[in-house]
Amino acid sequence: MCGIVGYIGKRQAYPVLVKGLHRLEYRGYDSAGVALINGEGQLNVYKSQGKVSDLEDTAQHQDLTGSVGIAHTRWATHGEPNFRNAHPHLSQYGRLAIVHNGIIENYAPLREMLRQNGRTFKSDTDTEVVVQLIEYLQEKQQLSFPQSVRRTLQMLQGSYAIAVLDKNQPDTIVAARKGSPLVVGVGDSELFLGSDASPIVEYTNRIIYLDDEDMVVLHRESDSNANEVGIDLMTLHGEHKQPRIEQVTLDVSQLEKGGYDHFMLKEICEQPQSLRACLLSLRQALFGSDSEPIFSLLQSANRVLITACGTSWHAGIVAKYAFEQMARIPVDVDYASEFRYRNPVINEGDLVIAISQSGETADTLAAIEMAKKQGAKVLSICNVIGSSIPRASDQTIYTMVGPEIGVASTKAFTAQVTVLTTLAILWGKRRGIVSESESADLLKELDSLPGQIAKMLTQKEAIRQMAQTLSFAPSCLYIGRGYNYPVALEGALKLKEISYIHAEGYPASEMKHGPIALISQEMPVVTIATQSPIYDKLVSNIQEIRARQGRVMAVVSEGDTEVVRMADGYVVVPCVSDCLSPILNIVPLQLLSYYVACLKGCNVDQPRNLAKSVTVE
Ligand code: G6P
Repeated sequence: MCGIVGYIGKRQAYPVLVKGLHRLEYRGYDSAGVALINGEGQLNVYKSQGKVSDLEDTAQHQDLTGSVGIAHTRWATHGEPNFRNAHPHLSQYGRLAIVHNGIIENYAPLREMLRQNGRTFKSDTDTEVVVQLIEYLQEKQQLSFPQSVRRTLQMLQGSYAIAVLDKNQPDTIVAARKGSPLVVGVGDSELFLGSDASPIVEYTNRIIYLDDEDMVVLHRESDSNANEVGIDLMTLHGEHKQPRIEQVTLDVSQLEKGGYDHFMLKEICEQPQSLRACLLSLRQALFGSDSEPIFSLLQSANRVLITACGTSWHAGIVAKYAFEQMARIPVDVDYASEFRYRNPVINEGDLVIAISQSGETADTLAAIEMAKKQGAKVLSICNVIGSSIPRASDQTIYTMVGPEIGVASTKAFTAQVTVLTTLAILWGKRRGIVSESESADLLKELDSLPGQIAKMLTQKEAIRQMAQTLSFAPSCLYIGRGYNYPVALEGALKLKEISYIHAEGYPASEMKHGPIALISQEMPVVTIATQSPIYDKLVSNIQEIRARQGRVMAVVSEGDTEVVRMADGYVVVPCVSDCLSPILNIVPLQLLSYYVACLKGCNVDQPRNLAKSVTVE
């Protein structure tokens, strides 16, 4: 994870870098740091344990001048999240500074070799090895700054996005990526670096997405009057490449809280709009003439393998139910981290569907690369345009819900399920399983969901009351059946992530095979009990809990009379078809976890130990 920002140009770098770090803080917030080269060619490094705001406190009253700099916000992998392991790291003689996102797998032997050659290490990180090695090669082999970086990168195993400063070349930043994202922003006489475009878009919408094993030298004319900047792009093997500049359309206001207390609340509440945007873009992707490559991928598939992590994996389970029911196509769903290592059976003719909000999750990326090598085709469902997973896929459908900043995923989930359910309906129709009229009805109902979510959001008070009960619980159970079993998993994950209450999602009937032993007044059970063909079975499961003095909180459909009689608290959602119900039913559970976390005083947008984009395995 970790976020990287860089700047070289005509303005003061520090404000740009710090603002950029705030935008990237979703990637990690264990420590933050900045390196600047000032007008006298001095390299100043400031860093702090904790958040970017802690860095700002530390750095105030220091020399923050300079129009070249790099900065970093960290999610710790190697070495504790403390000051000494905070980036940027300096080389032995303080000539170079580096920021890094990723993991250097062979850092131990390299460190040993450098130690034997007189280098001492000030941190426990894998990153420090890289900067020491660059300086060592510069001296030993008389290499230029870019050459020494390139030679070093050729010796590394693992993943990285790096940016390096050399105080002897104060008008240059060298950066590179392999397995971790990095983009360059091209402004007017200024250049930017970012782990994604979010720290850059307020200055320029012209972005170069670096490919794996790309290295880029950003330089500025040393004559300060010239105001010229340049980009040399090359591969790690030294072949020069022509940079391809893309225009991004990211609205800066989407990166702000817009009057809400937290990004998560904003993102929950904007689901009527985000889903509308998703449905609109689906119309182009799946209903226009451009849709044929996607449908030809689907139609040539004998089997679907869905791979994803976290919330996206839960969207994958909903998709399994939908694809199997509506398209009668066999589907397996795997955590990407398991899929990539368990030697799964993959045949040509298998379609891998990768689901990822960020498009950067390392395990998901590795899983699709492995599947492609074995002959599978890959369709990805992704939110971030230009990210690594779409670039590695045969086809992509974008969810188009705008940036999701809250670490706990919300609007991305509803959009992922919307995309996947639409695919299932259309695929089922093409296979003659879903009739014309059923498909038309379901698509019409899908179009009504943004309005239904808006209606549901008016019930915040009922949810706040349920939150009071949950906030005192040491542990919670979430149960659902059919399409709402994955909703139970996702509801439980939301609670765990941001309120630190242990919660488990379970298929309601499986309760009898273990979890029912846990039922007590102290362990509330949240049930998703909306109308479905197996509603009566779920009612029986709830009775089994009540019979053991369990406390039940329920999500029910409008007009429900049975579950509301048994529940200690409930929230009502509009009636929709069973296969579309996850899109609606998850919303009260997102709000429930939000209110519980607020009642417990937790940091909703930056829960401990988590990061939004998991670019390390
Ligand atoms: C992290 C995030 C989750 C997300 C998961 C998968 O764990 O905190 O919210 O669901 O990664 O991320 P992706 O971007 O691949 O959907």
